Amino acid sequence: MDLIPAPRHLKVFHGDLGPWSFRLRPDTRIAAADGAQGVARWLRAELSAATGFTFDACTPEQGRLGTQTIHLEFDPELRATAGREAYGLSVNDYGAFLRGGGRPGLFYAAQTLRQMFDPRIYRRAPLPGTDWVLPSVQVEDAPRFGWRGVLLDVARHFLPKADVLRFLDLMAAHKLNVLHLHLTDDQGWRVEIRRHPRLTEVGAWRERSMVGYRSGGRRDDRPHGGYYTQDDLHEIVAYAAKRHITVVPEIDLPGHAQAALAAYPELGNTDVVDTAALGVWTDWGVNPNVLNVSDATLRFFEGVLEEVLEIFPSEFVHLGGDECPKDQWRASPAAQARMAELGLADEDALQSWFIGHFDRWLADRGRRLIGWDEILEGGLAPGAAVSSWRGYEGGIAAARAGHDVVMCPEQHVYLDHRQAPGEDEPVPVGYVRTLEDVYRFEPVPPELDGAAAARVIGTQANLWTEFMTSARDIDYRAFPRLAAFAEVAWSDLPREPGARDWTGFERRMAAHYPRLDALGVEYRPPGGPHPWQRRPGVAGRPTEGP
Ligand code: ACM
Repeated sequence: MDLIPAPRHLKVFHGDLGPWSFRLRPDTRIAAADGAQGVARWLRAELSAATGFTFDACTPEQGRLGTQTIHLEFDPELRATAGREAYGLSVNDYGAFLRGGGRPGLFYAAQTLRQMFDPRIYRRAPLPGTDWVLPSVQVEDAPRFGWRGVLLDVARHFLPKADVLRFLDLMAAHKLNVLHLHLTDDQGWRVEIRRHPRLTEVGAWRERSMVGYRSGGRRDDRPHGGYYTQDDLHEIVAYAAKRHITVVPEIDLPGHAQAALAAYPELGNTDVVDTAALGVWTDWGVNPNVLNVSDATLRFFEGVLEEVLEIFPSEFVHLGGDECPKDQWRASPAAQARMAELGLADEDALQSWFIGHFDRWLADRGRRLIGWDEILEGGLAPGAAVSSWRGYEGGIAAARAGHDVVMCPEQHVYLDHRQAPGEDEPVPVGYVRTLEDVYRFEPVPPELDGAAAARVIGTQANLWTEFMTSARDIDYRAFPRLAAFAEVAWSDLPREPGARDWTGFERRMAAHYPRLDALGVEYRPPGGPHPWQRRPGVAGRPTEGP
């Protein structure tokens, strides 16, 4: 069956009536239990597009009278023992039977059913001559982690809404369930905030961009921009929810904020820098221009977050906190006076106070703050969770202190990093992380066990887009590695990277590439980039290790 991510238990039988037990036909129907209509609608839409059949609804009773029915049911016992995301799937001479611990589990059963057919099932229109047959199969499955995330940086390069929706479909096909949207940065502000319209009028575009790494000295002369209206984001959130994906918004504070400063210079450290002269940043890198720590700035971002909370129902709200140089705070009399007034020992404590303010603000509204591991410096806010990106260390410290952790170490799962050592890799940056390296990534380091290990609520692959200007570039860097990452996040793999069945995964990947082809994903071919996927002459910045 060559399923990705691999299910916990899979048995394939040869039935009494020949090798094939079940066949999608023009009269195949879908019988959905109460509460399962949403999953049924999704499955009907996908299967109808690829097969041309209508998959009419019928009652569970009607479905039991025939053999050509796909049954969707809930299994309270499975829910009690294995959770809402667990599922069972039986295909036999009597039909296809999908059982979910809850709606997410039922949705994953439907994804698994879809993946078992000919890869043409992933196409948007029927191709002639496809026989949609399955043998008898039994699957029992549940995910290892509850947070199976991907970060899309839509700030460095804007990703149009239609491409975000497509990306959600690709995530769902791999049973990934958190889209972390990096909505704001120095180079662009991508979310409409009605009470502060200049954030997008001014902040959503820049005059030009660096092309490749800074050392190459290349720039284009092409304005770049775009933003999501609140309607766009409501649509993205609802589309994701139908696919059991939570969208976690990130508003990056107090660094990575020059696009906001360009729009509202009073948010910056005006006593040390002429923030009115700043535009939206046209460079890549870590930027010295950070927010000031005044009450007015706190109020401004509370206003931003009030609108963000209306759009995003996610429990977690990401407030960044990474790479905030403290030089301007050191030089600013206003920041120093603030530190004195609050009795803070240093600028790290000032950042910690700033993040802590929003930790409480979010908690008062029933939400939780998550931030990059720099938020550990100067003391972690009481309710905060940590995205551990500079390695495992931040995550280990946070987990030991009883905080939830999402492991996304840059040495392992930054998918903007190059996939091979060769000269042909487009804009080669960072560590070499091959498909095999990602497959052998273990989110829970051996330093953690017991209760601390359980604080690792999941893992995330991050796609920073300085060097990806379009969905095509994202496809190239994300795939096939995101398939390996999905298996790491979902499947019950051996914890020791060396004990993982890489050969078996590679064999299953041979069946998975045709699925990606049918989905129209422009992945990196195993032998290296197509000529049109190279970027000759555009400088990267390879790093050695880990
Ligand atoms: C990050 O990569 N600055 C989180």
